Amino acid sequence: MDWDEFYKGTPAWDVGHPQRAFEALLEDGEIKPGRALDIGCGRGENAIMLAMSGCDVTGIDLAETAISDAKAKAAERHVNVNFVVGDVLMMDQLFKESEFDVVIDSFLFHTFTDKERPIFAKQVCRVLKPGGKYFMLCFSDKDPAGPGPRRISKAEIQHTFTPLFNVIYIADSSLVATTGKREAYLLSAVRKNIF
Ligand SMILES: C[S@@+](CC[C@H](N)C(=O)[O-])C[C@H]1O[C@@H](n2cnc3c(N)ncnc32)[C@H](O)[C@@H]1O
Repeated sequence: MDWDEFYKGTPAWDVGHPQRAFEALLEDGEIKPGRALDIGCGRGENAIMLAMSGCDVTGIDLAETAISDAKAKAAERHVNVNFVVGDVLMMDQLFKESEFDVVIDSFLFHTFTDKERPIFAKQVCRVLKPGGKYFMLCFSDKDPAGPGPRRISKAEIQHTFTPLFNVIYIADSSLVATTGKREAYLLSAVRKNIF
């Protein structure tokens, strides 16, 4: 998939504000100030919000255009975020083990193939401190079938993450796209101490 191509315009997920589910995690104290990583950060709204709430934030995305736009947006808002171009499936080449207290994922997991999922879970697990938290928002199988990303079931989320994480909850949630409000799952998981 040519992700850069999407950023020549405004892709459906690029709503120009953070997702409410992540705002609520900050308000409820589930995400606390610390080192945070936004994987597949796109144009950076969620990463910028975390930085404005006191986190030391890195945002990573494959798409150079998204990262360059995110950097410009953060500079315009006088917010400090370390935005980097890179592949989440190869984060072992970019980040040390146990670098982050929290990883957030806004619509990235549901883009991966079945084969990529265990590689992805391992990469996320590796960059988190033991006890570090992973919060993931994805399209759910409650969203009507149709175009757009794969709908994900709770069983698929469990299957991917339970080898490496303690799943705290998989909650019904929603995500906002330019096409409107959609059904989502919000995963809260804690890294097991296995590396
Ligand atoms: C559906 S978009 C979501 C963007 C952003 N999180 C948001 O909520 O606006 C998925 C993002 O993940 C990025 N992406 C896809 N595969 C990736 C990979 N292997 N490594 C890093 N970023 C990736 C894409 O470039 C895209 O920006």
